[in-house]
Amino acid sequence: MDSFSTLIRTASHEQHVAAETSTFMSDLLGGRLGMEAYTRYTEQLWFVYDALEDGTMRLASDPVAGPFVQPELFRLAALERDLAHLRGPGWRTGLTALPATEAYAARVRECAQGWPGGYVAHHYTRYLGDLSGGQIIRDRAERTWGFERKGDGVRFYVFEDIANPAAFKRGYRELLDAVDADDLEKQRVVAECRRAFALNTAVFRALGEEFPLSA
Ligand code: HEM
Repeated sequence: MDSFSTLIRTASHEQHVAAETSTFMSDLLGGRLGMEAYTRYTEQLWFVYDALEDGTMRLASDPVAGPFVQPELFRLAALERDLAHLRGPGWRTGLTALPATEAYAARVRECAQGWPGGYVAHHYTRYLGDLSGGQIIRDRAERTWGFERKGDGVRFYVFEDIANPAAFKRGYRELLDAVDADDLEKQRVVAECRRAFALNTAVFRALGEEFPLSA
């Protein structure tokens, strides 16, 4: 039988393609969007990571979710520096979550508070993605809007304390494979991972509607 890390990766493969090729992501990667669209997207990420990281230390002692709580992954501080750069020092004022983002963040909080396995699904979907495709987005953002390489505006994508992302991802997959859960619970986690992808795609859809291309 496949390892859990293989199972979760395979199960979300199709949705990964859908997220990657969503109109908003394609336009972003194609360098066709303005900086205000990128800013709006970064704002949405703030709400998601606030939900993912707020009170996570509480989960640190949980047998299932605990091993995943690794401070070198935390993104909230980096997002706040990016937002200060993008929106100015008063970045928090007027920051709003789209309804799709609200739904996503609410589900993350629900898992963080009551279902460690579900939290792992959300953790995996975001952080492993940020360590992978996030680097492609960073490169594109730097070139499209002229941010300093790995500087303010794209710090969210820079994991200062992870020297070797490939090795880190290998270690992460080992953590997934070591999760202490029976097959049924693993199936539930996989289903939650699919849900996490769907929640992301819904945010992209909403952003795509807010920033349709005129051309
Ligand atoms: C333009 C957008 C994206 C690009 C270009 C992209 C690209 C990639 C690439 C190249 C990998 C492979 C890394 C490897 O094999 O080590 C990867 C993995 C991954 N991506 Fe994305 N991605 C994008 C969007 C997303 C989104 C929106 C999510 C979910 C929120 C996501 C979640 C993941 C996850 C969880 C993995 C790890 C798969 C695994 O090895 O288990 N990605 N991505």
